[in-house]
Formats: sequence, structure tokens, C-alpha cells
Amino acid sequence: MEFSAQDLQRRIYLEGLAGRRPAIKADFASVEAAARTRMTPEALAYIAGGAGAELTMASNRAAFDRVQIVPRVLRDVSTRSLEISMFGGTYPTPLFLAPIGVLELVHPECDLAVARAAKALQVPMMFSNQASVPMEVCAREMGDAVRWFQLYWSKSRELVTSFVKRAEASGCSAIAVTLDTTLLGWRPRDINLGYLPFLEGKGIAQYTSDPTFIESLKDPETDIPESQNVNLASLQALISVVNHFPGSGFLSKLRSGLPLKAVRKFIATYSNPAINWDDLTYLRSITRLKILLKGVLHPDDARKAIDYGMDGIIVSNHGGRQVDGSIATLDALPPIAEAVNGRIPVLIDSGIRSGSDIFKALAAGAKAVCIGRPYVYGLAIGGQKGVEDVIRNLIAEFELTMALSGCKSIAEINRDMLAR
Ligand code: GLV
Repeated sequence: MEFSAQDLQRRIYLEGLAGRRPAIKADFASVEAAARTRMTPEALAYIAGGAGAELTMASNRAAFDRVQIVPRVLRDVSTRSLEISMFGGTYPTPLFLAPIGVLELVHPECDLAVARAAKALQVPMMFSNQASVPMEVCAREMGDAVRWFQLYWSKSRELVTSFVKRAEASGCSAIAVTLDTTLLGWRPRDINLGYLPFLEGKGIAQYTSDPTFIESLKDPETDIPESQNVNLASLQALISVVNHFPGSGFLSKLRSGLPLKAVRKFIATYSNPAINWDDLTYLRSITRLKILLKGVLHPDDARKAIDYGMDGIIVSNHGGRQVDGSIATLDALPPIAEAVNGRIPVLIDSGIRSGSDIFKALAAGAKAVCIGRPYVYGLAIGGQKGVEDVIRNLIAEFELTMALSGCKSIAEINRDMLAR
């Protein structure tokens, strides 16, 4: 992607002369407000919500707001590059699209729209373990654009292995194992609506497209009780479950019992609170893909990740969706970056809402940042174009922040650029 913040500004202001305003606003607050009006209460709760009193979400933001940039002057920033190098390759910008599940709640084209936007912008997409579209389908859409796969550690090692092999075959170059969601956090917004999309068969496409998972449906049933309560809502949920199951013929799918079994199997097995460091040894043994640990917040865990042969770290608190009252990621980052000392790349997510946030994250030691809710709101407003506009705006704002702070390249951004 040939990208220039000035070209984008020029285009927008010229359009403005002709009376046309941008469909996607340039600041996060406006984008979020517009997206809210386009989402069902259930979708909004699931996407926008966090754990508990949402203190972690607030802390993520507060940490970015507290840190201040100290711009330098007279440094000739007339030519600029946002390129970074990582894992032996180059990336045009230090942005990634974080894995977000159940995007069908937000837009019918869901993961496919994001995949197309990622390809157009050359911003790598991390396929969600809880996607609404199987990874192979998104991969086909992306040609040779860079993608990673986010892995949840299931109770079934066979399924983990199958997901990893499929990620390899789908051209993913890395696996981001998410370690902070071995159980689903306490999320009042979802709980108050009594709503979990997976029970409607949504967000489990990686499972229902998986031969190992489908084979496992032949196992005797696990201990998940069937709902006894049949009413209009539960019938609608049943229809949704059947429609989400692959294959044609509603009645034959219903009679096979497999769609409901798939949901029950998913609920019983998708996360595994027993995961520990030995499981990473197994993961390392089955793939040559890069492995990043996502959800690391303590420097000791970061050091240990290196001992276990991991290739990278994503400092994350899952967008504040798991532990309420957790450390903000921007506060966790500097000691982790110090502990890792450049041996493996450290990425960050959770709370990044502007180009200036991206600059602060990089100055605090991140190699790259992962964007979550902002692009989902873009998706809600305008599908693929909405995602593209949100990300393009973020890149433009980042480029301008970098240049106006006196940096021509990412390499020039460092801790000295931040006020102590
Ligand atoms: C799952 O990944 C979630 O955060 O809901």
C-alpha cells in the first residue's frame, strides 16, 4: 500500500469542498458512537463490553492518556517510512488486526470483509479462533497477504493439532496462542442480557469446518444438559444453530442431531484451564510456524516464554474482557520490553484508539500494535470499506504524529520520546 497521510488529508478536504463528508469519522469517539446505532443490543454488549466494572478497559485508556510525547524539532522529516522488520520479513506498517470473534454479529460479510480490507491495506489479519468464517475461506480471499492464526487451547489436543495444521495449510505465518481466556471472563453486559452468541451456533465456524471436531461428535455426549425450556426464543436459537452448521437441507441437518451436538461439544471443550508451560513444548514440537504468546502481562512470564522457545509476545489483557482491575497494557509493556531486551518481538493490544497511542506504544517498547474494537466499529458502519477507512485513518494519524515528533522512521521512536 502506497500511503501518505498528506494525500489522505488532501483528498478529504477536496471532497469537503464538493460538499461530501467522510462516511467514517476521523476520531474513535465518533466512530464508536456511529457504530453503536448500527448494532443490536446483544452485538454491542459482546463487542463493546468488558469484564466486571470495566476498570481494566478504563485503565487501558488512562495509561495511554497519562503518557505524553515530547516532540523534537528540526530533524527533516520530509521523507518517512512506517516499515518494520520482524521474523525475517518486512511489514509496511506496525499495525495488525487483532483477532475478534463472532463478527457476524456486526456485519453479514464479517471476517471476509476484514480479510479483504487487510489485503488492501497490507495490514496483517489475525484469524480469530472464534471466527464466523473458516480460516481457509478467508485465506483464499487474501492471496499472499500476511495472516496469523489465533489459537485457543482446547481440551482436545487432537483439535489443537488440527487447527495448527489448518493454519499452516492456510498460509498463516504465525500462531498467537491466547493465554488469558482459559475460562470466559465475568462479563456483566452479556450476562445481563443472558446472551452468548456461541449457543446460537455463531462464532464456531473454525470448529464446524474441522474434520477432527466433526469426527469427535461421534463421541458419547458430554455433561452439558439440553435446554428443557422451549419457547419462541429457544426455537429461534435452534434454527440459528442448524443454519450455521455446514451442509444443506435444514431438516436433514436437524434430524442428524449434529448441529446441536456441535454447540454442546464446543462449549464443553473450547477452553482449557489446565493449560500450562508443558503444553507449549507440545505446540513447539508440532509446528515450525512462529509462536507468540498473547496475554502476557508479567516480565517473568515473558522471560519464561523465551526459555520455552517462543518467538514473540503480545502484551494484552484481551481488551479488558477477562480480569477486571488488571494492569493496563501500556503499564505492563516497559518492564516486559526490558526483560525481553530485544531477543523476541513484543507486540501490544488493548486500548489503542489513535495514531498517537500507536506512537506511545512503540516508544514504550512495542514492535507493533494490534487494533481491535476500532476496526470492528468500522465494519459495523461500512463493511470492508469501513474497516479500511478506520485503519487508514489510524495509519495517517500515526504517520503525522511520528513526523511531527521529529521521527522519519520507526527506528527513531524510543523511550526518550516520552515524558518521564
Ligand atoms: C472471546 O475471545 C471473547 O473475548 O469473547
